[in-house]
Amino acid sequence: MKNYKQINPKSAKVEDLFYEYNVGAKPFLKWVGGKRQLLKSFQSLYPKLLKKKKIKNYYEPFVGGGAVFFDVVQNFEIENAFLYDINEELILTYLVIQNNVNELIDFLYRYDKQYKKLNEEQRKEYFYDLRKSFNFSRFNIDYNNYSENWISRAAQIIFLNKTCFNGLFRFNSKGEFNSPMGKYKNPKIVDEQNLLNVSKLLEITTIKKADYSKVINDLNGDSTFIYFDPPYKPISKTSSFTAYSKTTFQDDDQIQLSKLFYDLNEKGYSLMLSNSDPKNIDPSEDFFDKIYKDYKITRVNAKRSINSNPNKRNSIKEIVITNY
Ligand SMILES: C[S@@+](CC[C@H](N)C(=O)[O-])C[C@H]1O[C@@H](n2cnc3c(N)ncnc32)[C@H](O)[C@@H]1O
Repeated sequence: MKNYKQINPKSAKVEDLFYEYNVGAKPFLKWVGGKRQLLKSFQSLYPKLLKKKKIKNYYEPFVGGGAVFFDVVQNFEIENAFLYDINEELILTYLVIQNNVNELIDFLYRYDKQYKKLNEEQRKEYFYDLRKSFNFSRFNIDYNNYSENWISRAAQIIFLNKTCFNGLFRFNSKGEFNSPMGKYKNPKIVDEQNLLNVSKLLEITTIKKADYSKVINDLNGDSTFIYFDPPYKPISKTSSFTAYSKTTFQDDDQIQLSKLFYDLNEKGYSLMLSNSDPKNIDPSEDFFDKIYKDYKITRVNAKRSINSNPNKRNSIKEIVITNY
């Protein structure tokens, strides 16, 4: 087996990395609603045009951890990708990986070294101190203009994400990160190879902190595939797993999004959208069947890793809506 450490991922072609060395890029953050465990089912639902190499432009308006982006862009002939998310900390991190990955890695090694030499009690103090200063310093960050101080912030985001409870990267309504510390003995704080691979892929990518509806301003030409992964319609009244950010996504927002889906369909783009299946809870609930009644709806099995009831983990379905 070749030793991938010997290649320089910055100068290697993505295809070389993925196919010859099998060290493809993968999500660099744990993210609620991440699609990694669904990729196998999704692959059979991608547009045929993608498999025929006819799609060159990929758009993902709710990118989150980006599992589908990484899958599509490494396996098909995408020339341009556009990623959007409303979460400013997430987009800041993507942009730092795109622009200053080596400096980011240096920061992460420093955090890793400091943290790993501490005992349990000291780690706790370190985590909560960092969380506090991270929350406080958000007022000093200009999220609209890239600057040097984004690099250390991105390192803090990755550190907190890797060490917090269950990777539940949660913000309250004031925009404060409020997840408690996790119980990992040896969290992987620096995944250098992956960050370099991700940075390489982001060279063909435009990344924006924006509402999903802004995608319409960037679309040009055909040969385009758009994948929508909006926040889940809550699977139960008590579930709050859609709280990735200060804003929430209500039924009205799901309906608004379906209108955009209809508009984009008229323009001839290939579209795919996923959500949790409300029938998991109430078999008579046909919210998505109604708002996407003119499209193909497929139900696939999902093992949702974040579910308070372990008995429900295996029986959850995800719906996938496609216009092809
Ligand atoms: C289900 S997650 C996406 C998960 C992602 N596909 C993955 O594999 O990790 C939904 C994402 O939508 C983002 N979001 C919520 N409201 C949004 C809006 N109005 N416009 C754009 N993004 C939004 C959230 O910040 C979150 O990252």
